[in-house]
Amino acid sequence: MSKKRLSSQVGHTTDSYHRDELPIAQGKAKIIRELQRNPVTILVGETGSGKTTQIPQYILEAGISGGKCIAITQPRRVAATSLAARVAMEQGVSLGTSVGYSIRFDEHCSPNTKIKFITDGMLVRELMSDKYLSNYGVIIIDEAHERTLRTDVLLASLKQILRRRNGSSQGHDQSQDPLKVVVMSATLDAQGFSNFFDSIKPIYVKGRQHDVHIFHTLTSQPDFVEAALRTFFQIHTSNNPGDVLIFLPGQEEIENLNSSIRFYARQLPQGVMPVLVYPMYSSLHPSQQSKVFMRTPHGSRKCILATNIAETSITIPGIKYIIDTGKCKERRYVAREAGSGVDTLLTRDISRSSAMQRAGRAGREGEGFCFRLFPKQAFDSMAPTLEPEIRRCDLTAMILELKSLDLDIERLDFMDKPDEDAVYSGLTTLSILGAIDKHQNLTGAGKKMAALPVDPKFSRAILASEELGCSQEVIDIVSVLSVSSRLFLGVQNDDSNVVGTRDKFKHPSGDHCTILNAFRAYQEVVSSGTYGEATSWCARNFLNARALSEAVEIRRQLRGICKRIGINTDLSCSGQVQPIIHCLVLGLVQNAAFIQPNGFYKQVMGPSVVKIHPGSVVAQTHHPAIVYDELVFTTQTYVRGVSIVTKAEISNVFSSISGRF
Ligand code: CDP
Ligand code: MG
Repeated sequence: MSKKRLSSQVGHTTDSYHRDELPIAQGKAKIIRELQRNPVTILVGETGSGKTTQIPQYILEAGISGGKCIAITQPRRVAATSLAARVAMEQGVSLGTSVGYSIRFDEHCSPNTKIKFITDGMLVRELMSDKYLSNYGVIIIDEAHERTLRTDVLLASLKQILRRRNGSSQGHDQSQDPLKVVVMSATLDAQGFSNFFDSIKPIYVKGRQHDVHIFHTLTSQPDFVEAALRTFFQIHTSNNPGDVLIFLPGQEEIENLNSSIRFYARQLPQGVMPVLVYPMYSSLHPSQQSKVFMRTPHGSRKCILATNIAETSITIPGIKYIIDTGKCKERRYVAREAGSGVDTLLTRDISRSSAMQRAGRAGREGEGFCFRLFPKQAFDSMAPTLEPEIRRCDLTAMILELKSLDLDIERLDFMDKPDEDAVYSGLTTLSILGAIDKHQNLTGAGKKMAALPVDPKFSRAILASEELGCSQEVIDIVSVLSVSSRLFLGVQNDDSNVVGTRDKFKHPSGDHCTILNAFRAYQEVVSSGTYGEATSWCARNFLNARALSEAVEIRRQLRGICKRIGINTDLSCSGQVQPIIHCLVLGLVQNAAFIQPNGFYKQVMGPSVVKIHPGSVVAQTHHPAIVYDELVFTTQTYVRGVSIVTKAEISNVFSSISGRF
């Protein structure tokens, strides 16, 4: 089989760049020398210069990892899987052999894996069973400039591990092989990393960048999806060749624009090129991601709708035009505003650094154009960079993970110290959930909760389900809630067909048991029919087939982990609802709300007044008390994933935990 055939099968292009033509190849000898010489290397290079795909291969080929595995972390799942596929192809091996990946609920590795792309969160989990990460000879922290919570935890832990594993330093453990750490970043501002690692000098890799002409709108565009649609068709109908990359904040905007572009593209007069539209966001299924990388067939135009995943983590060939809405989704802890103790995704303006990265994507292969859907003044007043996650996210899960690693968040040497209030609030949550005791030590329950790779609120519910005899049901519900996309399609539209069809899954207790009904029905269809039948059954019932198949996989793994840590997964309450709701109350007690005379709900542990999201099965009715699993901010504060409870249940839980403080 020719190389070209093979590459088109895996969905990547080999024709655009050969390995030794990448900008990084010019500095290869110097980089290898530095890597051999130093325990820590900081490498800065423009996006697309070849850092992520080449550095692990250089290390492998030069034998720097001492025969051990090389880990390369990624903040996003999609990046980990697609880059692993690319490197496997370059190495001429099949994915999952010597080159593999590991992301939550999906691992493609073998005992012989030498290059492993891994999400930063998964590598933190590996610390739990291997506290010196002794399986690895080299650990590459990629996309370090993104400063995700888990990247910061890894940097802090690696500093300690380096001391343990490398000779001549204090605290050296003789039984350990030495470790090398490489920190890679796409933004030039590497001073923070340099300061953190004893002022080592970063190595700079020059990129290959052509001119990009930047245009701003004269006024701001509140409806940026509509503005992006118009701009796209202006580019498209000009008939100049070149692919288009549109940056949008999230999946919802991407799906909306996807259907609008497809709709209008069908009405174009003859003679205008056909358009191929592809979405690209974190939770996209691997089988759909690869299309993005394929070369556009001659005489057509590719249009990619992406989140900030396409900013620095992945490079898509052929892009000549960028349309930048100037927005991104930011995970932010809203406890102080809303008393919820949950992270919420908020749409916000990007940073100046992001805007520059986005524009740069148009100049990879030649002169490019970037259309910013915001005025020049807006660009000038953007924040230079975004705040690191450790300063703005809920820390509950992280504190729990650190505790199970015997690490104390207040003593770890972080690049940026976490906020004291956020630490306090995380500890409070853990104590409410029974994961830590009065002295802030991990309890037996806390140890089990840390082993389950789901939100601590959900792991608490799973733990309770064993005592209350409904582990089958609760694990099923948590599996669906842990999927990255939503189960019910078209929740926003009140099409009576959709609502009518969904009614057959509806459970009077609320959304959680409704989810359970739908998931159970799906499992029955799967077990008795073919995959194709299951997919069309989902379409008929307005259910997200991808979310359901992902939930089946999560369920399989959660049950596996539960068995390993001694939780009986086979207990069923056979149709009773009360035990299930009680488990949910124990996990979600901080997300309880009581009704007010005006029909709104007031949070029990926060100041906010919330409304049940119209997509909920209990949105039309009033109940004295509810618990919810998600807060959504639009024009007002909504809660989604709601179950009806009683005030007494909530008060009982609060009085049973009051002794813990
Ligand atoms: O990490 P960095 O941004 O420096 O570059 P990289 O991810 O290693 O990508 C190097 C080059 O490989 C890019 O310019 C792409 O042209 C190509 N590539 C690709 O075609 N398909 C992929 N899935 C990944 C990379
Ligand atoms: Mg990269």
